Amino acid sequence: MVAGDRILMHLQGRSALVVGGTSGVGEATAERLVAEGCTVVITGRDVVKGRAAAQRIGAVFCRADVRDVDAMIAAVDTAADLGAMGVLVHCAGVGHAARTIGRDCAYSSAHSLDDFRETIDINLVGTFNAVRLAASAIARTDPDELGQRGAIVLTSSLAAMVGQTGQAAYAASKAGQLGLLLPLARDLSSKGIRVNAVVPGGMDTAIYGPEGPSEALRRAVSDAAIFPKRMGRPAEFASLVVELLRNDYINASAVELAAGTVQLPR
Ligand SMILES: NC(=O)c1ccc[n+]([C@@H]2O[C@H](COP(=O)([O-])OP(=O)(O)OC[C@H]3O[C@@H](n4cnc5c(N)ncnc54)[C@H](O)[C@@H]3O)[C@@H](O)[C@H]2O)c1
Repeated sequence: MVAGDRILMHLQGRSALVVGGTSGVGEATAERLVAEGCTVVITGRDVVKGRAAAQRIGAVFCRADVRDVDAMIAAVDTAADLGAMGVLVHCAGVGHAARTIGRDCAYSSAHSLDDFRETIDINLVGTFNAVRLAASAIARTDPDELGQRGAIVLTSSLAAMVGQTGQAAYAASKAGQLGLLLPLARDLSSKGIRVNAVVPGGMDTAIYGPEGPSEALRRAVSDAAIFPKRMGRPAEFASLVVELLRNDYINASAVELAAGTVQLPR
């Protein structure tokens, strides 16, 4: 095969940063990237969980809140010191549920602005913080034979398009990721860095609480899916991420991972 025929970016030997890689879909992605031959750094807020996950999958853990610039620079530097950094997968995020107005319609019971800001700060501003720093480090690496330096995957949500009752803050934060996609891909194209996003439906993770999704939520998500009628699995997310990272011709794309779900329950 001549260089021009190559269609898959090499992951083997690259260093990768998985932000929010200490649990759920991020942990599964980090594990998969280790299996693909990457040196992987994972970040999260919980030191105990982070160290345990890193040990289990063979990654390096850096404690870093996505809103903390210095901690995120330290995490990016750790990844960049471990090898040619070519991958950022951004999974960190929090859920939030509250209705826009209270039952009594009093101003005081309307949706908390602090909660709204915090959700946007973690899910959207945090994403941009990670991208701008990681992309700077990736841009300093040598390009491959096709001028490519790396690839970035963001994590949006079906809620960006079909947000449910009580999801104003969460849906807005995830819609923001979709708005970021095209300008990021354009901004980073001159450095040979692609940017894509996964748009998951209901995934079976601890974002719904330490016990995972309730039976009622499992049923609702399953009913809304076309086929298969179940929640998504973290390994399915990881598999899609690897394709988005490797496939040279996917850029500025948001790809759904939701078993055909078109409308979530109210
Ligand atoms: N589980 C779902 O149904 C679902 C659906 C659509 C999108 N998503 C998105 O997928 C992503 C991963 O979620 P998950 O389901 O694996 O949940 P999870 O709770 O298992 O993982 C969340 C990760 O984000 C990290 N995190 C949270 N706040 C952080 C902060 N301020 N700074 C640094 N790290 C922080 C946590 O440490 C953890 O590693 C999130 O962005 C979530 O919104 C999840």
